[in-house]
Amino acid sequence: MESQGLKAFSREYKQLLEKELRHLVEELDAPLILKESMVYSLEAGGKRIRPLLLLATLEAFGIDPKNGLPAAAAIEMIHTYSLIHDDLPSMDNDDLRRGKPTNHKVFGDAVATLAGDALLTYSFEVINNISNDFASAETKLNVITEMAKAAGAEGMVGGQVADMEGEEKTLTLEELEYIHIHKTGKLLRFSVLAGALLAGANKTQIESLSQFAHHLGLAFQIQDDILDVTGNQQLIGKPIGSDTANHKSTYPQLLSLEGAKDALGSQITLAKENLKKTGLNTNLLLEITDLVATRNH
Ligand code: IPE
Ligand code: IPE
Ligand code: MG
Ligand code: MG
Ligand code: MG
Repeated sequence: MESQGLKAFSREYKQLLEKELRHLVEELDAPLILKESMVYSLEAGGKRIRPLLLLATLEAFGIDPKNGLPAAAAIEMIHTYSLIHDDLPSMDNDDLRRGKPTNHKVFGDAVATLAGDALLTYSFEVINNISNDFASAETKLNVITEMAKAAGAEGMVGGQVADMEGEEKTLTLEELEYIHIHKTGKLLRFSVLAGALLAGANKTQIESLSQFAHHLGLAFQIQDDILDVTGNQQLIGKPIGSDTANHKSTYPQLLSLEGAKDALGSQITLAKENLKKTGLNTNLLLEITDLVATRNH
Protein backbone atom coordinates (compact mmCIF):
# COMPACT_ATOMS: atom_id res chain seq x y z
CA MET A 1 0.00 0.00 0.00
CA GLU A 2 1.24 3.48 -0.89
CA SER A 3 2.03 5.30 2.35
CA GLN A 4 -0.01 8.43 3.05
CA GLY A 5 1.63 11.84 2.99
CA LEU A 6 2.26 13.98 6.06
CA LYS A 7 -0.90 16.04 5.64
CA ALA A 8 -3.24 13.05 5.90
CA PHE A 9 -1.06 11.43 8.56
CA SER A 10 -1.11 14.61 10.72
CA ARG A 11 -4.83 15.05 10.33
CA GLU A 12 -5.54 11.50 11.41
CA TYR A 13 -3.08 11.28 14.27
CA LYS A 14 -3.54 14.76 15.73
CA GLN A 15 -7.17 13.86 16.30
CA LEU A 16 -6.30 10.56 17.92
CA LEU A 17 -3.64 12.21 20.06
CA GLU A 18 -6.05 14.86 21.27
CA LYS A 19 -8.56 12.18 22.22
CA GLU A 20 -5.84 10.30 24.09
CA LEU A 21 -4.73 13.44 25.98
CA ARG A 22 -8.27 14.34 26.98
CA HIS A 23 -8.99 10.80 28.12
CA LEU A 24 -5.78 10.61 30.15
CA VAL A 25 -6.55 13.79 32.10
CA GLU A 26 -10.24 12.89 32.53
CA GLU A 27 -9.17 9.64 34.19
CA LEU A 28 -7.30 11.47 36.95
CA ASP A 29 -8.79 11.58 40.42
CA ALA A 30 -7.61 15.13 41.18
CA PRO A 31 -8.94 18.64 41.99
CA LEU A 32 -11.07 20.01 39.16
CA ILE A 33 -9.14 23.28 38.85
CA LEU A 34 -5.90 21.34 38.35
CA LYS A 35 -7.44 19.19 35.62
CA GLU A 36 -8.94 22.27 33.96
CA SER A 37 -5.58 23.99 33.95
CA MET A 38 -3.85 20.91 32.48
CA VAL A 39 -6.50 20.49 29.77
CA TYR A 40 -6.52 24.23 28.99
CA SER A 41 -2.93 24.13 27.79
CA LEU A 42 -3.03 20.63 26.30
CA GLU A 43 -6.06 21.52 24.21
CA ALA A 44 -4.82 24.93 23.15
CA GLY A 45 -3.66 23.19 19.98
CA GLY A 46 0.05 23.21 19.32
CA LYS A 47 1.63 21.82 16.18
CA ARG A 48 2.15 18.43 17.90
CA ILE A 49 5.49 18.06 16.17
CA ARG A 50 7.00 15.88 18.92
CA PRO A 51 4.16 13.33 18.91
CA LEU A 52 4.21 13.31 15.11
CA LEU A 53 7.95 12.59 15.15
CA LEU A 54 7.44 9.60 17.43
CA LEU A 55 4.53 8.27 15.38
CA ALA A 56 6.31 8.84 12.05
CA THR A 57 9.34 6.98 13.40
CA LEU A 58 7.15 3.97 14.19
CA GLU A 59 5.72 4.20 10.68
CA ALA A 60 9.28 4.19 9.29
CA PHE A 61 9.76 0.77 10.92
CA GLY A 62 6.47 -0.48 9.50
CA ILE A 63 4.78 -0.51 12.91
CA ASP A 64 1.19 0.68 13.39
CA PRO A 65 1.61 4.21 14.85
CA LYS A 66 -1.55 3.78 16.95
CA ASN A 67 0.55 1.73 19.36
CA GLY A 68 2.62 4.84 20.02
CA LEU A 69 -0.25 7.12 21.07
CA PRO A 70 0.31 6.86 24.85
CA ALA A 71 4.04 7.59 24.45
CA ALA A 72 3.22 10.45 22.07
CA ALA A 73 0.80 11.85 24.66
CA ALA A 74 3.47 11.59 27.36
CA ILE A 75 5.91 13.66 25.27
CA GLU A 76 3.28 16.30 24.54
CA MET A 77 2.56 16.53 28.28
CA ILE A 78 6.23 17.22 29.04
CA HIS A 79 6.43 19.74 26.22
CA THR A 80 3.24 21.48 27.37
CA TYR A 81 4.52 21.65 30.94
CA SER A 82 7.74 23.24 29.67
CA LEU A 83 5.71 25.90 27.84
CA ILE A 84 3.52 26.69 30.88
CA HIS A 85 6.63 27.22 33.01
CA ASP A 86 8.54 29.02 30.23
CA ASP A 87 5.76 31.65 30.04
CA LEU A 88 5.64 32.37 33.79
CA PRO A 89 6.42 35.93 34.95
CA SER A 90 9.63 34.67 36.57
CA MET A 91 10.74 33.19 33.24
CA ASP A 92 9.82 34.71 29.85
CA ASN A 93 6.77 36.53 31.20
CA ASP A 94 4.60 36.01 28.13
CA ASP A 95 0.83 36.55 27.96
CA LEU A 96 -0.04 34.63 24.81
CA ARG A 97 0.51 30.97 23.92
CA ARG A 98 -1.02 28.87 21.18
CA GLY A 99 -3.26 31.83 20.40
CA LYS A 100 -4.75 32.02 23.90
CA PRO A 101 -3.87 33.77 27.17
CA THR A 102 -1.06 31.87 28.90
CA ASN A 103 -1.95 29.38 31.62
CA HIS A 104 -0.91 31.63 34.51
CA LYS A 105 -2.99 34.51 33.10
CA VAL A 106 -6.09 32.33 33.45
CA PHE A 107 -5.34 30.15 36.47
CA GLY A 108 -2.74 32.21 38.36
CA ASP A 109 0.97 31.46 38.87
CA ALA A 110 0.48 28.82 41.56
CA VAL A 111 -2.01 26.61 39.73
CA ALA A 112 -0.08 27.06 36.46
CA THR A 113 3.13 25.92 38.13
CA LEU A 114 1.37 22.93 39.69
CA ALA A 115 -0.38 21.99 36.42
CA GLY A 116 3.08 21.89 34.85
CA ASP A 117 4.37 19.70 37.69
CA ALA A 118 1.38 17.36 37.30
CA LEU A 119 1.86 17.03 33.53
CA LEU A 120 5.53 16.21 34.00
CA THR A 121 5.01 13.53 36.63
CA TYR A 122 2.00 12.01 34.87
CA SER A 123 4.03 11.52 31.70
CA PHE A 124 6.19 8.91 33.46
CA GLU A 125 3.14 7.02 34.67
CA VAL A 126 1.70 7.09 31.15
CA ILE A 127 4.84 5.43 29.75
CA ASN A 128 4.72 2.83 32.50
CA ASN A 129 1.09 2.05 31.56
CA ILE A 130 1.88 1.25 27.90
CA SER A 131 0.52 -2.20 27.09
CA ASN A 132 2.99 -5.01 27.77
CA ASP A 133 1.88 -6.55 24.48
CA PHE A 134 3.48 -3.64 22.67
CA ALA A 135 6.51 -2.86 24.85
CA SER A 136 8.35 -5.04 27.35
CA ALA A 137 9.08 -3.78 30.87
CA GLU A 138 12.73 -3.41 29.84
CA THR A 139 11.85 -1.28 26.81
CA LYS A 140 9.60 0.93 28.91
CA LEU A 141 12.39 1.42 31.45
CA ASN A 142 14.75 2.44 28.66
CA VAL A 143 12.18 4.91 27.33
CA ILE A 144 11.61 6.33 30.81
CA THR A 145 15.36 6.74 31.42
CA GLU A 146 15.86 8.54 28.12
CA MET A 147 12.81 10.72 28.79
CA ALA A 148 14.13 11.72 32.22
CA LYS A 149 17.52 12.60 30.73
CA ALA A 150 15.99 14.61 27.89
CA ALA A 151 13.65 16.57 30.15
CA GLY A 152 15.83 17.11 33.21
CA ALA A 153 19.03 18.82 34.33
CA GLU A 154 21.07 17.25 31.53
CA GLY A 155 18.41 18.18 29.01
CA MET A 156 15.60 20.71 28.71
CA VAL A 157 15.74 22.10 32.25
CA GLY A 158 19.51 22.56 32.03
CA GLY A 159 19.02 24.37 28.73
CA GLN A 160 16.35 26.64 30.19
CA VAL A 161 18.71 27.66 33.03
CA ALA A 162 21.54 28.33 30.57
CA ASP A 163 19.07 30.37 28.48
CA MET A 164 18.26 32.56 31.50
CA GLU A 165 21.90 32.93 32.42
CA GLY A 166 22.61 34.01 28.84
CA GLU A 167 20.28 37.02 29.09
CA GLU A 168 22.00 40.42 28.70
CA LYS A 169 25.24 38.68 27.60
CA THR A 170 26.99 38.14 24.30
CA LEU A 171 27.56 34.42 24.10
CA THR A 172 29.88 32.47 21.84
CA LEU A 173 28.22 30.40 19.14
CA GLU A 174 29.21 27.30 21.09
CA GLU A 175 27.44 28.54 24.23
CA LEU A 176 24.34 29.42 22.24
CA GLU A 177 24.37 26.01 20.58
CA TYR A 178 24.47 24.38 24.03
CA ILE A 179 21.31 26.29 24.99
CA HIS A 180 19.43 25.34 21.84
CA ILE A 181 20.48 21.70 21.86
CA HIS A 182 19.37 21.37 25.47
CA LYS A 183 16.29 23.55 25.91
CA THR A 184 14.67 22.32 22.70
CA GLY A 185 16.84 19.76 20.92
CA LYS A 186 16.87 17.10 23.61
CA LEU A 187 13.10 16.63 23.76
CA LEU A 188 12.81 16.60 19.97
CA ARG A 189 15.61 14.05 19.80
CA PHE A 190 13.88 11.99 22.45
CA SER A 191 10.67 11.95 20.40
CA VAL A 192 12.48 10.10 17.61
CA LEU A 193 14.50 7.97 20.01
CA ALA A 194 11.37 6.82 21.84
CA GLY A 195 9.88 5.72 18.53
CA ALA A 196 13.08 3.84 17.70
CA LEU A 197 13.25 2.15 21.11
CA LEU A 198 9.58 1.11 20.95
CA ALA A 199 10.17 -0.24 17.43
CA GLY A 200 13.08 -2.37 18.61
CA ALA A 201 15.62 -0.55 16.42
CA ASN A 202 19.18 -1.86 16.26
CA LYS A 203 22.20 0.15 17.45
CA THR A 204 23.13 1.52 14.03
CA GLN A 205 19.58 2.66 13.34
CA ILE A 206 19.39 4.30 16.77
CA GLU A 207 22.66 6.13 16.14
CA SER A 208 21.59 7.54 12.74
CA LEU A 209 18.12 8.46 13.96
CA SER A 210 19.58 10.19 17.03
CA GLN A 211 21.95 12.19 14.86
CA PHE A 212 19.07 13.08 12.54
CA ALA A 213 16.93 14.27 15.43
CA HIS A 214 19.80 16.14 17.08
CA HIS A 215 20.24 18.31 13.98
CA LEU A 216 16.49 18.64 13.48
CA GLY A 217 16.10 19.83 17.09
CA LEU A 218 18.76 22.47 16.69
CA ALA A 219 17.19 23.60 13.41
CA PHE A 220 13.80 23.80 15.10
CA GLN A 221 14.99 26.26 17.76
CA ILE A 222 16.98 28.35 15.24
CA GLN A 223 13.73 28.78 13.29
CA ASP A 224 11.91 29.58 16.56
CA ASP A 225 14.44 32.41 17.12
CA ILE A 226 14.02 33.62 13.53
CA LEU A 227 10.23 33.64 13.89
CA ASP A 228 10.54 35.70 17.06
CA VAL A 229 11.92 38.42 14.74
CA THR A 230 10.11 37.84 11.44
CA GLY A 231 6.99 35.93 12.46
CA ASN A 232 3.33 36.87 12.37
CA GLN A 233 1.79 36.87 15.85
CA GLN A 234 -1.60 35.84 14.47
CA LEU A 235 -0.13 32.73 12.87
CA ILE A 236 2.39 31.86 15.53
CA GLY A 237 0.00 32.31 18.47
CA LYS A 238 2.65 33.79 20.78
CA PRO A 239 4.15 37.26 21.11
CA ILE A 240 6.74 38.36 18.56
CA GLY A 241 9.82 40.15 19.97
CA SER A 242 9.74 38.32 23.30
CA ASP A 243 13.44 37.40 22.98
CA THR A 244 14.46 40.99 22.30
CA ALA A 245 12.33 42.26 25.20
CA ASN A 246 14.04 39.74 27.51
CA HIS A 247 17.53 40.47 26.11
CA LYS A 248 17.91 36.81 25.12
CA SER A 249 20.82 35.38 23.26
CA THR A 250 19.46 34.10 19.95
CA TYR A 251 20.81 33.04 16.55
CA PRO A 252 19.62 36.20 14.73
CA GLN A 253 21.03 38.37 17.50
CA LEU A 254 24.45 36.68 17.33
CA LEU A 255 24.72 35.89 13.61
CA SER A 256 22.27 38.38 12.01
CA LEU A 257 19.11 37.16 10.32
CA GLU A 258 20.97 35.97 7.23
CA GLY A 259 23.54 34.11 9.33
CA ALA A 260 20.77 32.44 11.31
CA LYS A 261 19.09 31.32 8.09
CA ASP A 262 22.40 29.83 6.86
CA ALA A 263 22.85 28.00 10.17
CA LEU A 264 19.31 26.63 9.84
CA GLY A 265 20.07 25.41 6.31
CA SER A 266 23.26 23.64 7.46
CA GLN A 267 21.42 21.82 10.25
CA ILE A 268 18.65 20.72 7.88
CA THR A 269 21.24 19.31 5.46
CA LEU A 270 22.94 17.38 8.27
CA ALA A 271 19.57 16.08 9.48
CA LYS A 272 18.70 14.78 6.01
CA GLU A 273 22.11 13.14 5.53
CA ASN A 274 21.64 11.18 8.72
CA LEU A 275 18.09 10.24 7.86
CA LYS A 276 19.27 8.70 4.58
CA LYS A 277 21.73 6.51 6.46
CA THR A 278 18.94 4.69 8.30
CA GLY A 279 17.82 2.83 5.18
CA LEU A 280 14.25 2.97 6.54
CA ASN A 281 11.07 4.22 4.88
CA THR A 282 11.58 7.80 6.02
CA ASN A 283 9.16 9.71 3.75
CA LEU A 284 7.16 11.16 6.63
CA LEU A 285 10.25 12.10 8.65
CA LEU A 286 11.64 13.81 5.57
CA GLU A 287 8.43 15.79 5.14
CA ILE A 288 8.57 16.82 8.80
CA THR A 289 12.17 17.99 8.25
CA ASP A 290 11.11 20.16 5.32
CA LEU A 291 8.30 21.55 7.42
CA VAL A 292 10.73 22.53 10.20
CA ALA A 293 12.90 24.34 7.65
CA THR A 294 10.06 26.35 6.14
CA ARG A 295 7.49 26.67 8.89
CA ASN A 296 5.91 30.07 9.58
CA HIS A 297 4.33 29.05 12.90
C1 IPE B 1 7.77 26.08 21.22
O1 IPE B 1 7.56 24.79 20.72
C2 IPE B 1 8.87 26.09 22.21
C3 IPE B 1 10.14 25.60 21.67
C4 IPE B 1 10.74 24.60 22.21
C5 IPE B 1 10.75 26.26 20.54
P1 IPE B 1 6.57 24.54 19.52
O2 IPE B 1 6.86 25.52 18.43
O3 IPE B 1 6.61 23.09 19.17
O4 IPE B 1 5.17 24.91 20.18
P2 IPE B 1 3.71 24.33 19.93
O5 IPE B 1 3.66 23.01 20.63
O6 IPE B 1 3.49 24.18 18.46
O7 IPE B 1 2.79 25.34 20.56
C1 IPE C 1 11.58 27.58 25.03
O1 IPE C 1 12.30 28.43 24.25
C2 IPE C 1 12.08 26.24 25.14
C3 IPE C 1 11.27 25.49 26.13
C4 IPE C 1 11.80 24.54 26.81
C5 IPE C 1 9.86 25.82 26.40
P1 IPE C 1 11.54 29.79 23.98
O2 IPE C 1 11.35 30.57 25.22
O3 IPE C 1 12.21 30.44 22.82
O4 IPE C 1 10.12 29.24 23.48
P2 IPE C 1 8.90 30.18 23.07
O5 IPE C 1 9.40 31.03 21.94
O6 IPE C 1 8.47 30.93 24.27
O7 IPE C 1 7.87 29.19 22.57
MG1 MG D 1 12.25 30.71 27.05
MG1 MG E 1 9.53 31.63 25.79
MG1 MG F 1 11.22 31.42 21.26
